[in-house]
Amino acid sequence: MDKKIIVITGGSSGIGLQTVRQLAAKEKNHVISFSRNEEKMRRALKETGKKDNIAYFGGDITNEDDCLKFAAYIEARHGKIDGLVNNAGILANGGIEMTDYETWKHTIEVNLNGVYLLTRTLLPLLKKARGASIVNVSSVAAFKPGRSIAYSVSKAGLDMLTGFLAGDLAAYNIRVNSVNPALVRTPLHLENKIFENETEYEELLKTSAEKYPLKRIGQPEDIANLIEFLLSGKSSWITGSIMKIDGGVTVSNDLIPPKE
Ligand SMILES: NC(=O)c1ccc[n+]([C@@H]2O[C@H](COP(=O)([O-])OP(=O)(O)OC[C@H]3O[C@@H](n4cnc5c(N)ncnc54)[C@H](OP(=O)(O)O)[C@@H]3O)[C@@H](O)[C@H]2O)c1
Repeated sequence: MDKKIIVITGGSSGIGLQTVRQLAAKEKNHVISFSRNEEKMRRALKETGKKDNIAYFGGDITNEDDCLKFAAYIEARHGKIDGLVNNAGILANGGIEMTDYETWKHTIEVNLNGVYLLTRTLLPLLKKARGASIVNVSSVAAFKPGRSIAYSVSKAGLDMLTGFLAGDLAAYNIRVNSVNPALVRTPLHLENKIFENETEYEELLKTSAEKYPLKRIGQPEDIANLIEFLLSGKSSWITGSIMKIDGGVTVSNDLIPPKE
């Protein structure tokens, strides 16, 4: 059987790892994760259980040489890419006074420039699949200022990249969409030192859930399910969409009291 070749950046943790797991559960898929820390990736995949249809490649999406090597690796083994999930990302904290120029540049470099670089490098392989799908993992912070000026701006830029690429690449039958989650429980916040410690983070998760109309924050599975749909033929007429997935938090109306 001709396997579907699916690349997921940041497949070693959080949303990316769950997406790797779900997609690899289907034998028709061959899933390749691309992220920097190979040891972290090896550990994560060990927990997933050994599967012949999962592979990983160590590299940084902001490094042109790593992206070229990754493209050569896929070209040699598979000759095409059916799905690309641009999921790798980092988080920062604070407005203009808290965000020094280095942090600003680094956040834009990973969350926006890295996506552009890797997508452009892999484009010849995506074209070869004749019907590929690209999913960019953005955030609701793209619409509304959140915790970080650099993060919000990087994700707003990513959404425009999604729209532009959708129009640009439709001629090759390549679809491009964004998924924009609100708060999801993953290592992201602690990994990027947004909180002093785990207790503070747990407190945020608890108080946040109450603000969500659906009374819970997101789990990686929620996002992986939407990504899986956007990679599949079931979404074949969807391109250029920016899809909120947020438990209703962006439409919550505090003025209406709850029903008795
Ligand atoms: N969790 C949330 O609340 C939330 C909400 C909205 C949007 N998102 C978005 O969802 C995506 C996934 O986040 P997550 O919460 O799952 O975070 P996470 O658990 O911290 O995972 C991030 C992944 O990205 C990889 N990565 C980071 N920088 C990289 C680089 N330069 N090159 C290659 N890989 C890199 C990391 O692996 P290495 O460190 O080994 O490279 C890791 O596998 C991000 O784009 C994030 O902005 C998350």
